Amino acid sequence: MTKKKKIEFGDFQTPIELTDNISKFIKTIFPTPNIIIEPTCGLGSFVKSCKSIWGTDCSYYGFDVNPQYIEKCNTNINDRGNCHFEVANFFQKNWKDLFLTYKKSKVLVVGNPPWVTNAALGVLNSSNLPQKSNFQGLGGFAAKTGKANFDIAEWMLIKLIESLKGCNACIAMLCKTATARKVLKHFWINNSQINNSFIHLIDAKQYFNVSVDACLFVTFVNSKDKSKDAYIYNDLSFRNEVTHLGIYANELIANIDDFEKYRDVDGIDYYKWRSGIKHDASRVMELTKDNDKFKNGFGEYVEIESEYLYPLLKSSDLGNNRLTPRKYVIVTQKTVGENTIVIKKTAPKTWAYLEQYSSILDSRKSIIYKNRPRFSVFGIGDYSFTSWKVAISGLYKGIHFCAIGQYDKKPIMVDDTCYFIPCSSKAEAILFAQQLNSEPCMKFLKSLIFFDAKRPINIDILRRIDFKKLSEINEKEDEVLKFLTYAQAPLTQQLSLVFEKTEEYRTIG
Ligand SMILES: C[S@@+](CC[C@H](N)C(=O)[O-])C[C@H]1O[C@@H](n2cnc3c(N)ncnc32)[C@H](O)[C@@H]1O
Repeated sequence: MTKKKKIEFGDFQTPIELTDNISKFIKTIFPTPNIIIEPTCGLGSFVKSCKSIWGTDCSYYGFDVNPQYIEKCNTNINDRGNCHFEVANFFQKNWKDLFLTYKKSKVLVVGNPPWVTNAALGVLNSSNLPQKSNFQGLGGFAAKTGKANFDIAEWMLIKLIESLKGCNACIAMLCKTATARKVLKHFWINNSQINNSFIHLIDAKQYFNVSVDACLFVTFVNSKDKSKDAYIYNDLSFRNEVTHLGIYANELIANIDDFEKYRDVDGIDYYKWRSGIKHDASRVMELTKDNDKFKNGFGEYVEIESEYLYPLLKSSDLGNNRLTPRKYVIVTQKTVGENTIVIKKTAPKTWAYLEQYSSILDSRKSIIYKNRPRFSVFGIGDYSFTSWKVAISGLYKGIHFCAIGQYDKKPIMVDDTCYFIPCSSKAEAILFAQQLNSEPCMKFLKSLIFFDAKRPINIDILRRIDFKKLSEINEKEDEVLKFLTYAQAPLTQQLSLVFEKTEEYRTIG
């Protein structure tokens, strides 16, 4: 099979050692199935392992789009005649009709659906996709921003569970942990159908040689019970609980128990959280100081005026609490869209340097640079140039907020993988860093953060931190309120919120 085909069909066969362990584990939670179905069975390792456990007590059904796999299953596994293998395209099969025949049985749906996203299939020009549908109700904007990107496995799991309506069934499928969460969210929001859900983490590196957060996702379908939470365990047992997933105001909560304890921190954002500077050309725009000279990412010495140069902390600096800048960044504008041609006059060497690398800067791919002044940057405004900031990296698991001030008499910038609030004094930055690093805030944030996400910390999470409420919990109201009044000053209509906030302004609740 070519590499392209392997990706297109998400074709990573599960090793028998893992399917054996999974089948033994399922036996402990769904001991007596009558029908076992593997919807994308490949070479049939799951059917094989299940057969070694349930033998002739069950009928086994395996489907796969690849006829060669089905042929192999028929020769290698179907020894006693209670296995039925069939070539079938998942997207064309009528699962509802199939499950209807087993309404009175106990059905186990087991397997490992393809690990590929619709976006990846788009790149491969593949048609191994469901018919176009308004999946998850996403509109045109979501489609454009990439939010409509979904895992094929997510679509398949939702389809299977929906088709099992009215059955007595257990679904146990290998998938990414993010996929399992999306499926849970789908059913929890739609208030339907699933009960007793578990996520058992799997070491994907060991079994598939891929670095993906993977799990065995288990849920049950029956006509009576539904539940809206799921426990996560760190292996195929119930011994070591990692967290207790839940939902609140239609949002998934990573640790519902801590969220319940610390949700008083949840509220409105008195400070506007910002992302750091974005330029998409680090080798040109970021310079390191080598003795007294500046060097760019190509190892070339650069002689430019200091006017547009600012000290820079990257995500890795903040993540490792390394707060003395080792890099500088060329900040060509003070506000987004500001004319840049002035640089030619005010700092001719800087302009000449930018022109020298114009082939890189002018061909930056992101649409945000189209029809903008030459050498534009993003993620800048008055807030970038305040003397102090409280900043955090969006990428690191060890969350820690840092108060950062000036360096070389200039405000320190952070890169676009970091978030910050602007502060006008050291006292303000230190106080708010302390508030943010306090235990109630940390526990609250950790209850919301999914650490396997590409960017575990994001603006949507940060803006939920209500500094007024947090200061009450930490008994620092007097100190904090002074600054909150100031933080709200330009937004006159919001000023009153600091003191007269009513329920209707709550973000959720
Ligand atoms: C991750 S592999 C898992 C195979 C097998 N379930 C296992 O655990 O070893 C995914 C399987 O899905 C099959 N597949 C991909 N797209 C499919 C489709 N549209 N319909 C049915 N099977 C499909 C592939 O041929 C491949 O065997």
